[in-house]
Amino acid sequence: MCGIIGYVGKNDAVKVLINGLKTLEYRGYDSAGIALKNKSIQVIKSVGKVSMLEDKLKTLDVIRANMGLAHTRWATHGKPSEVNAHPHVVGKVTIVHNGIIENAFELREKLEQEGVSFKTDTDTEVIAALINKYYDGDACDAIRKATDLVVGSYALGIMFDDEDYLYAIRKDSPLILGVGVDEYFMASDIAAIVNYTNKYMLLEEGEIAQISFEGINIYNSKKIVEKNILETSVVDEDKGKCGYKYYMLKEINEEPILVERAIKNFYEKIDEFPNLNDYEEIHIVACGSAMYAGMIGKTLIEENTNIQVVCEVASEYRYKRVFYNRKTLVIVISQSGETADTIAALRKAKANNIDTLAIVNVKGSTIARESKQQIYIEAGREVAVATTKAYILQVLVMALLSCKSALKLDLVKNDLEKLPRLLKEVIDRRDDYKKLAKKIFKSEDIFFIGRKIDYAISLEGSLKLKEISYIHSEAYQAGELKHGTISLIEENTPVLAIITDDDIKEKTLSNLEEVKARGALPIVICNEKIDGYQDEILLPKVSTFFQAVLVVPCLQLIAYEVAILRGCDVDKPRNLAKSVTVE
Ligand code: F6R
Repeated sequence: MCGIIGYVGKNDAVKVLINGLKTLEYRGYDSAGIALKNKSIQVIKSVGKVSMLEDKLKTLDVIRANMGLAHTRWATHGKPSEVNAHPHVVGKVTIVHNGIIENAFELREKLEQEGVSFKTDTDTEVIAALINKYYDGDACDAIRKATDLVVGSYALGIMFDDEDYLYAIRKDSPLILGVGVDEYFMASDIAAIVNYTNKYMLLEEGEIAQISFEGINIYNSKKIVEKNILETSVVDEDKGKCGYKYYMLKEINEEPILVERAIKNFYEKIDEFPNLNDYEEIHIVACGSAMYAGMIGKTLIEENTNIQVVCEVASEYRYKRVFYNRKTLVIVISQSGETADTIAALRKAKANNIDTLAIVNVKGSTIARESKQQIYIEAGREVAVATTKAYILQVLVMALLSCKSALKLDLVKNDLEKLPRLLKEVIDRRDDYKKLAKKIFKSEDIFFIGRKIDYAISLEGSLKLKEISYIHSEAYQAGELKHGTISLIEENTPVLAIITDDDIKEKTLSNLEEVKARGALPIVICNEKIDGYQDEILLPKVSTFFQAVLVVPCLQLIAYEVAILRGCDVDKPRNLAKSVTVE
């Protein structure tokens, strides 16, 4: 999703800003732009990758500057184009924006009636026009008057033609302030500045930061606010692809070592892990793959304890009527810790005085800061847009939590010991996945079926496949297919059946026979030999608590091989963003 970096300091602004944008690339974007300030402001934009903006800069007469703003855009209002790319300029105001303005059309209409004309389709230009309207030399006042009228979410970086300051303000979108030696920054993500400084300040909602060559002032109303300078332990962990063709493949290959480390950490901090039995009811709330990791957690908790679990998509949970009781725990799961809907769900629980636990990767993120308790999955930086290693660690944490609360840790000791090694063996079987990918990569539809935990696994397998290969795919509870969707099965439609749960193995097999009878190509992913299927991937069998940790990497790799055969950009699938900071 949109990324912002702003810089004031001793170094060449172009270099710092372009480096920052490259670090933010993983968030997903469709265009990029830069505004440089010396005596005047120069704006340069380009559709496509940051490298294309960089190439364009080389062809132009770019001013020397030590101050500027830069942005990667993920389109919300208006299609990806050079004109819609940020920064936007209206009058004396140059602006970059992350977020979404919900009343943009209304505000735009009013401004048009007042004689303002717009060059772009963006909601951002509307804020720029509002700030310009109110600006009479008092920047903070203009920014506050404009943002008071705005409904929605925003992180804004702003420059004025006649001032040597950068301004920043945010609401429901991330933005931090970096403090270096004779240089200062604003950024959507700490990773964009850690090559320059590990010191940063948090910008709270309602505060305005004024950044100059002398330092950063933060205003709340008219008063200066004293801020603590924090230090991050995040280092620029992106050491490149390390010989792998794509980050996704590198990140899948990191899973065994990360799983080993997570299990060790768990035993070292076992007493800090909450006991779910302290609660009568659990709500697990998240988006996308993180929600599917929650589905695994729900299945394991309900099968092994007496606690009832609701697992909901955050974008629904935040707006629906939710029933809490005094002994409800809300677990939010998020890799980035900045997913707008998940943050809103967390805040809803807190507003109802409900205990909250975050299972999160990024330290210092909004979700990590705002939840009552945190478990860090310690996945390191995940660059590929489609999550792999972070999902596996989310699942592992949910499994360990469930297992501890079910008092079954003693029963799984052996499995936990061998899990990293078995996982490595699963990942190393790439030839099997390539072979299977060759059979299915030309399909138009692919179905995944499973029951109970195997259904939760299917959901993630299907999402991974569709997001990176662009093949239409659906995951179904195996018994449900015949209630409608079976009409889509044609000659040779691949149906991947996940069969690892002994209790319902025979039932899923019957469902597979039903689709086979209608011409489907049946593919079995199982943990015990099943006779009669030509296309079978037999994976190691472990306790149900940890089976998903071995099955999902196989599905991640099948998706990967299919996407490669289809010539897709595996790390940056079209339309997707890594960190979804708008609702
Ligand atoms: C899919 C994927 C997304 C994320 C979702 C939540 O591969 O990565 O579905 O899982 O956008 O993101 P986080 O975990 O950052 O809250």
